[in-house]
Amino acid sequence: MEKLVITGGTALHGTIPISGAKNAALPLMCTCLLTEDKVTLENLPRLADITTLTDLLNHLGVTVTIEGGKGGMLAGRSLTFDGHTINDTVAPYDIVRKMRASILVLGPLVARMGEATVSLPGGCAIGNRPIDLHLKALEALGATIEMEQGYVRATAPGGLKGGRVRFPFVSVGATENILMAAALAKGTTTIENAAREPEIVDLAKCLNAMGARITGAGHETITVEGVEKLHGCTHAVMPDRIEAGSYAVAALMTRGDLLLEGAKAEDMQATLDTLTEAGGIVTVEDVGVRVKANGHVQGFNAVTQPFPGFATDMQAQFMALACVADGASVITEAIFENRFMHVSELTRLGANITVKGSTATVRGTKLLRGAPVMATDLRASMGLALAGLVASGETTVNRLYHLDRGYERLEEKLRSVGAKIERVAD
Ligand code: UD1
Repeated sequence: MEKLVITGGTALHGTIPISGAKNAALPLMCTCLLTEDKVTLENLPRLADITTLTDLLNHLGVTVTIEGGKGGMLAGRSLTFDGHTINDTVAPYDIVRKMRASILVLGPLVARMGEATVSLPGGCAIGNRPIDLHLKALEALGATIEMEQGYVRATAPGGLKGGRVRFPFVSVGATENILMAAALAKGTTTIENAAREPEIVDLAKCLNAMGARITGAGHETITVEGVEKLHGCTHAVMPDRIEAGSYAVAALMTRGDLLLEGAKAEDMQATLDTLTEAGGIVTVEDVGVRVKANGHVQGFNAVTQPFPGFATDMQAQFMALACVADGASVITEAIFENRFMHVSELTRLGANITVKGSTATVRGTKLLRGAPVMATDLRASMGLALAGLVASGETTVNRLYHLDRGYERLEEKLRSVGAKIERVAD
């Protein structure tokens, strides 16, 4: 197994190109299940999760071709997904267990094929993550749902019918699943209390380019007028606001100055506001967002919320920042239970953190000390890597496969702005 070895203490200066967003790319890839034509996605990041979903789509009968790479290794890839012939409607456990987002094939498959069977994703390191909202929403569109031997089977032999879906609370994945399914349902679907994340807007944009009739994406209520057929399209994946936010934290934490090339401020306003509260200087430039330090980092408060609130996917990185702030910070995790596993690892580096329920109080310390740490999930891993960038001596981040799920060429990007970071084999 590989690990990251980081020698802390260098201020980061320069430009980091931001990759295409993993969380936008995954649902976008599933749109190919809705049409017999080809869907080409540009600016796809090279990540383990993208490979896992490609394997699943392949298994279902989709052929995937890589378009000629343009712009060198740091430029995103273009892949064409040809779902002309779907010859299997079962998403097996062996693939689904690697990535929860595999559940996103359920809606499109049942909409086009009238049936789909997907392994239940099971537990997850960041708490119990059920899929009940996905299933209830599909039922509202006329699907019959059955559970058998760890699999969920959705059937709608006569096709899905438009309906009213009202989510009791916001779910990004359930909104995406139902948006794709409703695109091919007969009649009109309204989705109330829909997720408003930029990734939802990107998905609706792609679906509309395929001939769907979706209005309201990015708002609480989305309306979908179902169409009989969707056609192919070419769509560029939006920039990764979580990757950009993570490097923005690195700029402030290391007392550096980074231009996050391609980042869109409007997709990450809560992150930028919290950085400003913590003492960072944020400027929006033509080519991206610049974040630099203004001498010192001060304590801040953050509560995770659905978009446009402070993203749960930024919580671990900001906790690392809080560890080296002057004064105390209070961070509340309101989306996922059990998403504080990085706390004990940060403590190993010398952090002073007290957790009570879903709230962590972090008292900043002058100095973190390098140590071996164990990553537990994707964003927690990034929090630990960030802490390593400012800790004295050497920090080793083990279980690198978590980071490889979501950060494209992490060590290359960080090295190019001055970080001392190496990937080494165990
Ligand atoms: C997506 C993101 C993930 C991010 C999360 C919240 C992708 C691939 N992943 O995950 O990075 O952290 O949004 O912004 O885009 N829930 C239920 N029942 C359901 C569905 C969700 O109870 O059927 C709960 C979850 O356990 C969680 C909350 O709803 O507590 C929000 O989860 P959701 O927005 O669905 O997250 P994901 O789509 O899985």
